[in-house]
Amino acid sequence: MAKHLLKLMDLSEKDITEILNLADQLKYEKKHGIEHHYLKGKTLGMIFQKSSTRTRVSFEVGMYDLGGSALFLSSRDLQIGRGEPVEDTARVLSGYLDGIMIRTFEQAEVEALAEYGSIPIINGLTDYCHPCQVLADLMTFREFKGNFQGKKMCYIGDGNNMANSLIVGGIKMGMKVAVACPENYQPDAEVMKWARENGDFTCTDDILAAAKDADVLYTDVWASMGQEAEKAEREKIFVGYQINDEVMSVAAEGAMVQHCLPAHREEEITAKVFEEHAEEIFAEAENRLHAQKAVLVKLMGNN
Ligand code: CP
Ligand code: NVA
Repeated sequence: MAKHLLKLMDLSEKDITEILNLADQLKYEKKHGIEHHYLKGKTLGMIFQKSSTRTRVSFEVGMYDLGGSALFLSSRDLQIGRGEPVEDTARVLSGYLDGIMIRTFEQAEVEALAEYGSIPIINGLTDYCHPCQVLADLMTFREFKGNFQGKKMCYIGDGNNMANSLIVGGIKMGMKVAVACPENYQPDAEVMKWARENGDFTCTDDILAAAKDADVLYTDVWASMGQEAEKAEREKIFVGYQINDEVMSVAAEGAMVQHCLPAHREEEITAKVFEEHAEEIFAEAENRLHAQKAVLVKLMGNN
């Protein structure tokens, strides 16, 4: 497995399966009170240039569960927020820490940390992708549906960081992936080209066609962090890109609903569908903890 988790494209199907298997084991150990201090004495630095509830808390608790510790490093307090180059920050922090999780805007910043630092770097969300979230999503899908092969994933909404990672994760695990989004809000062109060449992938503005026979329906906010100024404009463009009863009626029987959260009810998902699938959505949120602990052990553990 690669030294870092910068994006899902860097992982093989075998790597992902190993992470999910370890995540299941760690979840079992946590639920049964079995100590699992695989990162005793190790410290993770967590750099946040954007807000977070799930990512921050799950990484911090994850390191604690694994016998290590985590430092919350807000970019407002770090010199990086005053312009100290990421290349220098990477080399300085490599002398103190055993790993870094970073949430930021530019994917290039995460890649630069990995290039200049000497410790594992984990992408906790960029504008381009959200690999930790999708590992938890895949874990949850497998937990509820048993396996991936030939199952259909549908994503409805903005072709954003979530869409990019879901496409890569779904295709790598052998799922059919259908995305429905407005014409000028499609996922990354290279991700879509790769998906078409490596699996069963479609991108359309026909929501019901994308949702037809889907085993899992995903959505995400219409305006992501950093796009607050476009919120009003996006609310008009994305009308109808919503998981609702009509969409659910064409999906496969017993289809799951997933949302990375935070959710905006009556925008990308109706309150009714959200509550009907709350068990799956909050299992997905919980699995952030278990999936990330597996990533931490794989990247920062001694073997
Ligand atoms: N889904 C997710 O990454 O949530 P946070 O923004 O709260 O970390
Ligand atoms: N697309 C959202 C995901 C939040 C977890 C954002 O980037 O804000």
